[in-house]
Amino acid sequence: MKTYKIDEYEFNEIIDAATINSRVLEMADQINKDYAGKKPLFLITLTGGMFFGVELLKHINLDCKCFVISAKSYGKNMVSSGNVDINIYDINVKDEDIIIVEDIVDTGLTVTKLIKNISAQNPASIRIATFINKPDCNNYKVNLDYVGFNLDDSFLVGYGLDYKEYGRNLNGIYSL
Ligand code: IMP
Repeated sequence: MKTYKIDEYEFNEIIDAATINSRVLEMADQINKDYAGKKPLFLITLTGGMFFGVELLKHINLDCKCFVISAKSYGKNMVSSGNVDINIYDINVKDEDIIIVEDIVDTGLTVTKLIKNISAQNPASIRIATFINKPDCNNYKVNLDYVGFNLDDSFLVGYGLDYKEYGRNLNGIYSL
């Protein structure tokens, strides 16, 4: 089994690169079907969502726009802080079909705040595509439209997810 060490923590690979790649392809196929004839606008959340977002977008065959937005959850260690600082810059989302691309939905706070923020600008629609969902943690009961993997509540790194900014570059998902 592949392992990766950050400080005193040893993470074990639970999903390998090949499995991830084929799942991302399936998700893109679904989005291509669901949005046929439309021109969605993808909002990719920095920093973690970038890794999933770029791979997903490579398989989208629709006319679409793509921007990055920032949703920083300020917290220490491995616990969600409860504080989210959102910046959608000067992106015009009015009347657009928005797909928010997230790395992970844990408590659901970040994505809930993003939806609230973007909804205020009257988009035509908003859907969520998340690479990972932790269903046991989703306190906000957010409806997720596209989910890569539903996983148990353990701390993860890899494919954009970090611990103290390390581990984002791993091409698999690793769990504590
Ligand atoms: P939320 O609780 O759904 O708002 O998630 C907050 C943020 O915590 C996510 O956007 C991630 O940046 C981070 N996070 C939650 N769970 C994990 C994890 O297992 N590994 C790395 N980061 C995580």
